[in-house]
Amino acid sequence: MCGIVGAVSRSGAVLEGLLDGLRKLEYRGYDSCGVAMFDPGLANGAVQIRRKVGRLTELEKLLADGALGAARAGIGHTRWATHGKPSDENAHPHTDGSGRMALVHNGIIENYLELRAELTADGAVFRSETDTEVLTHLVGRELARGKSLLDAVRASLRRVQGYYAIAVMALENGPDGKAAARLVCARQGPPLVVAATPEIGLCGSDVLALLKYTRDVVFVEDGDIVELAPGRIAITDFDGKAVARPVRHVDWDEEAASKGGFPHHMLKEIHEQPDVLARTAFDRILQVEGDVDFEGAGFDDARLRAIERIQVVACGTALHAGMIGKYLIENLAGVAVDCDFASEFRYREPVLAPRSAVLAISQSGETADTLAAMRLARERGLAPLSICNVQGSTVVRESEGVILTHAGPEIGVASTKAFVAQVIASYLLAVRLGRARGKLSVEQGRELLDELRRLRPRLEGLITEKTVERVRSIAVKHLKAKGFFFLGRGVNFPVALEGALKLKEISYVHAEGYAAGEMKHGPIALIEPGMPIVVINSPGRVADKVRSNIEQVKARGGHVISIGADEQSHALADESIPVPASSEWLSPLLNVVPLQLFAYHHALARGCDIDKPRNLAKSVTVE
Ligand code: G6P
Repeated sequence: MCGIVGAVSRSGAVLEGLLDGLRKLEYRGYDSCGVAMFDPGLANGAVQIRRKVGRLTELEKLLADGALGAARAGIGHTRWATHGKPSDENAHPHTDGSGRMALVHNGIIENYLELRAELTADGAVFRSETDTEVLTHLVGRELARGKSLLDAVRASLRRVQGYYAIAVMALENGPDGKAAARLVCARQGPPLVVAATPEIGLCGSDVLALLKYTRDVVFVEDGDIVELAPGRIAITDFDGKAVARPVRHVDWDEEAASKGGFPHHMLKEIHEQPDVLARTAFDRILQVEGDVDFEGAGFDDARLRAIERIQVVACGTALHAGMIGKYLIENLAGVAVDCDFASEFRYREPVLAPRSAVLAISQSGETADTLAAMRLARERGLAPLSICNVQGSTVVRESEGVILTHAGPEIGVASTKAFVAQVIASYLLAVRLGRARGKLSVEQGRELLDELRRLRPRLEGLITEKTVERVRSIAVKHLKAKGFFFLGRGVNFPVALEGALKLKEISYVHAEGYAAGEMKHGPIALIEPGMPIVVINSPGRVADKVRSNIEQVKARGGHVISIGADEQSHALADESIPVPASSEWLSPLLNVVPLQLFAYHHALARGCDIDKPRNLAKSVTVE
């Protein structure tokens, strides 16, 4: 994963802007970080590098002497280790030791061992365990041979196998003999965005890193090499041919990416969910027609009627949303849906029914496994559709039909509002499919969409101080528990998986999500007296079955925490968190909220880092 940034300015200082960009990108990795800066005013006229293991705050301490405060060009990095442990030496930027260049990298160089041997034989001295450093020495060697930075990067990238988003800064002497910084970046795989104002040229792994300067950006594509300068973005391919990429205006602003008074991004994002419902759904509802209007042509009647099967590919929380989508689409539209981990799908020989569509679900739109799975399905002839939160992301660009979730930037590593938005988008898709295929009448469509509208006040009523306090008091009661089960059935089975995942991710407690009806086939052996078992149940076709499962758990001494709108389950349980009633199909959107808050308060009481849990990163752009 990792986040990269770069800036080259006409006359202003860039360090603060780069650090601000890195702060926005810390969600991508946060085990170490660094910057390489160039200030022509400094006596030795060399590229200055500062790197530090740990969070950005550690690097900031190192920079507090102000020595680099006036630098007019620089690159920066925040790391999620792949090759070599987190350490000062392995932190980026890396350099060839000449003092005239530095490089930051997000991705993996697969043939680094053979390149390292070749470069070492050629006299290069390696100072880190990273794969990245080979790229540094390759570029350094080309520069030493007299190539321009652009040509040196191009020649070096021809030698590497793997994937990367890189930014390289190097000094070139101008006609006046004075050194000036050049900035080149390139992409093959991980995301990269560039922008230029008359004052500054910029690059970053994500638009969030550039918002301080501009909202007009260019999304770099695979195979692009970009030279940046104030007021100038020059994109070429590997053969040096100019490539045109559109400038896109993004509607996110800096405020949307802030904590807005909440102690953590995750808590803010949980509270945003009623608004996310409105943003994702309301403008798309056609009340009179009992139908849904998606922008773009990918979801018109003819196309949707031609689809006989849908293959969902996704990872993590997004896959759980897809699993809920399966229940919705099969029930409301009568279309078969298969769900697969993208990382499994891409490496088996999937047998795909003709007239299928692939539906990629992704918050970031950049998850490596999801993208690869989507591309594989597309190569096999499936129409590529997606549900995605990031305008301009790779998943979006490679889809024929896109449902943007409009959840706004999600910064907390544990996904909350993006999940809710993905489930809402799946519900809208189920209604649209049902209407296009004649499975749903106008009246049925209206009723389903009315239900969705009615959900907003219910969500608002749920995310109140009263519920939050109730969830908190239960969550902190079980701090000593060795493990948790989360059980659900039907459309709430994936909700159980999501509840367990949230707890694992941020509080590092073992939690297992299970289909309640499967417990008796093995996992029930794990239940010991007092073990907390969170059961999700709302009125619907399997509510009475879930109640029987509660009885089975209780008979073995399990401590049942009941979540949902099923009163009878609450009566059976040891503790309960009621949620407002809704249709069965929308119950996951309400039931997941207490589970998010449960994980949040459990983690908080255990002293965990909520927004940056250990070992994780928000956007997984490596395999
Ligand atoms: C990472 C994140 C998860 C996320 C998954 C898929 O593992 O930590 O929260 O669900 O990636 O991400 P995507 O951006 O594709 O939804």
